[in-house]
Amino acid sequence: MGDKDILEKSDKLVERWKFSPSARNLKPSFIRTMLKGSSQPGVINFAGGLPAPELFPVDELKEVCTRVLDKHGRLSLQYSLSSGVQEMRELLAERSSTDDYQCTPDEIQVTSGAQQALDMIGRVFIEPGSVVLTEEPTYLGAIQAFTFYQARFVSVSTDSDGMLPDDLEKKIKQHKPAFVYVVPDFQNPAGYSWSNERRKALVGLARKYDVPVVDDNPYSELRFTGEKPKSLKALGGQHVIQLGTFSKLISPGLRIGWIAADPEIAALCERMKQAADLHTNTFTQYVIYEFSRGGGLDRHIERIKAAYSRRRDTMIEALKANFDDGTTWTEPEGGLFLWVKLPDGKSANDLIMTALENKVAYVPGMYFFSEKPDDTTLRINFCNATEENIKEGVRRLAKVFGEAK
Ligand SMILES: Cc1ncc(COP(=O)(O)O)c(C=O)c1O
Repeated sequence: MGDKDILEKSDKLVERWKFSPSARNLKPSFIRTMLKGSSQPGVINFAGGLPAPELFPVDELKEVCTRVLDKHGRLSLQYSLSSGVQEMRELLAERSSTDDYQCTPDEIQVTSGAQQALDMIGRVFIEPGSVVLTEEPTYLGAIQAFTFYQARFVSVSTDSDGMLPDDLEKKIKQHKPAFVYVVPDFQNPAGYSWSNERRKALVGLARKYDVPVVDDNPYSELRFTGEKPKSLKALGGQHVIQLGTFSKLISPGLRIGWIAADPEIAALCERMKQAADLHTNTFTQYVIYEFSRGGGLDRHIERIKAAYSRRRDTMIEALKANFDDGTTWTEPEGGLFLWVKLPDGKSANDLIMTALENKVAYVPGMYFFSEKPDDTTLRINFCNATEENIKEGVRRLAKVFGEAK
């Protein structure tokens, strides 16, 4: 049965059975259909947030899995604590600590990826109609997660240094938000990182108006160049709830993420976690723990950073070589994504089907806006394709956008 048939059938079922308001309001997702198209043979896929599969540390993880079974045996296959395996929480507390912030294991809640952490945040903070302040654009998966709890989104004017403090203060006063949601390091989708000044301004306002800040942070360890800015958590202490994940550092299939927050917030999340799925996968927590303790994780991060950095340079060179029509793009110092803006009001959304016919995929930028979509933007992932495919994919993009009126 095709997607369309299934949807029609479920629409009929909604009329007969008492579905929840969230299920009734679920709309068929165009982006899902589009991402399906991007995985067809021959398509150069700049669309998904996928890390490069050929760089997954398969051989090392094989060896680590055996070590986990030898060392932790049946414990690694058993139910475990809702807050997370203790060794894992200790490791995450160590990795989350900085010169100015000492994180402790009781601040850590382990989750099934950062996406579940977003869901936990929704459960803890949002009631129908609660306002969430976001960057403009913002991470699509957060919009989806918080929409489920009927959040109302208000976007704050944002430039490549982060949210504009005046607009942020105005909107905090006006809307009394449940929290401010930000991706301050190599932002998804736009690729920029917040400056130290904007970080300080954000936490200053969070303290002044006593508003929590959710710092969604999958990418800060993927810095290729430039100086590392202060971590929001180090600057903001109690007011900042940090979310992390190993999806982009090792592999998304392992599904291990975490929340670092004051113990009171972590304890609330633990209760939500219990109700949601009891606990995160015990075995993969031990796998990551052993991989990290043996030094494999840090070595692996260095390897992928070197490869991603070359791919970013290749993508930027290819864009420069193929576009001289006023198209602009960000040049991020790390992460996975470039953000492109088309000239002359060309619509990235209107052109996506033509791009797929030409065997290249991207995500139209409009889906990353929680309020007013900018249709002339698109997100491209520079880390997932080989350098040869990056060059060819950008040539295809230039053809599609160049021929568009
Ligand atoms: C900003 C942001 N938050 C959360 C996630 C979800 O990550 P995970 O795979 O850990 O669920 C992603 C994935 O792309 C992301 O970019």
